[in-house]
Amino acid sequence: MEDYKVFSTVKSLQERLHSLGKETQVSFVATMGALHHGHLELVKKAFTLADTVVVSIFVNPTQFNKKEDLENYPRLLDEDLKLLKTVGDVIVFAPTVDEVYPKDYVDIDLNLGKLEHVMEGEFRPGHFKGVVNVVKRFFDIINPTYALFGLKDFQQLAVIEFMVEHFKLSVQVVGCETVREPSGLASSSRNFRLSEQEKVEAEIIYKTMEYARSLVAEKEPTEVQKMALEFFSKSPLEIEYLEIVDPKSLDSIPNWVPGARICIATMCGKVRLIDNSELIENSFIS
Ligand code: PAJ
Repeated sequence: MEDYKVFSTVKSLQERLHSLGKETQVSFVATMGALHHGHLELVKKAFTLADTVVVSIFVNPTQFNKKEDLENYPRLLDEDLKLLKTVGDVIVFAPTVDEVYPKDYVDIDLNLGKLEHVMEGEFRPGHFKGVVNVVKRFFDIINPTYALFGLKDFQQLAVIEFMVEHFKLSVQVVGCETVREPSGLASSSRNFRLSEQEKVEAEIIYKTMEYARSLVAEKEPTEVQKMALEFFSKSPLEIEYLEIVDPKSLDSIPNWVPGARICIATMCGKVRLIDNSELIENSFIS
């Protein structure tokens, strides 16, 4: 296969997309690069929905609430392109910050209600405003029929669905199952920064979710939360939150509901990890 042509300007990308004709349906996968199996599964699924797949690789500065996190975020474009080649002929969009946020860019200040105050919203103020801005900007540029996002970032998916509904966008948002390492650790670009020992220690996240699942038949959510926290506390990882929530409102729940999820955020050394898992089956989630 030939080397990819990477599109770095909005104009060149749009010219390419226009050249494919009006009828062409596009599947879009937004990423910040440092690609892994999880991203690649999204791209593979994207090809099952449309023949043309656009993958963006852009470390979005507006969604980082710590400068240090932004600076340390892995940037591995060459490796990313090699990995993408293994799954198909995708159109890669890797713009500069000025291209995404030109001088005349008007910030979207969408009120996300509770979604931006609980869990990730509470611990990463402003994060979802940044996500909304960059994803809406990409949707406007690419005009995709489908956009695929991972359930790994469950709250992000909820925010994007809220944004799509708010602006009445025509894009169909598709949620994709979390891809895990054999150990159960969710694949993540942040795992690149974990030592071998930290990777082993981080297995407690998946083990805790499995432990919680084993309790569901006999205990109420608040009790499961308490026991899961106790289980987790034996590890050296520092918990930020462990919540059992309704899958739509993301409110903590007093009683079990379909799709109830356990959501965990933790610091593993200097690396912040998040994960979540369904505790009660919900046939409505795509
Ligand atoms: P990033 O962390 O690179 O993730 C890109 C997409 O891959 C997201 O939809 C994310 O949920 C999905 N993903 C990550 N790890 C996954 C895994 N283990 N299994 C399945 N899917 C996984 O999320 C972002 O980037 C950014 O916030 C972005 C949406 C690109 C906006 O900047």
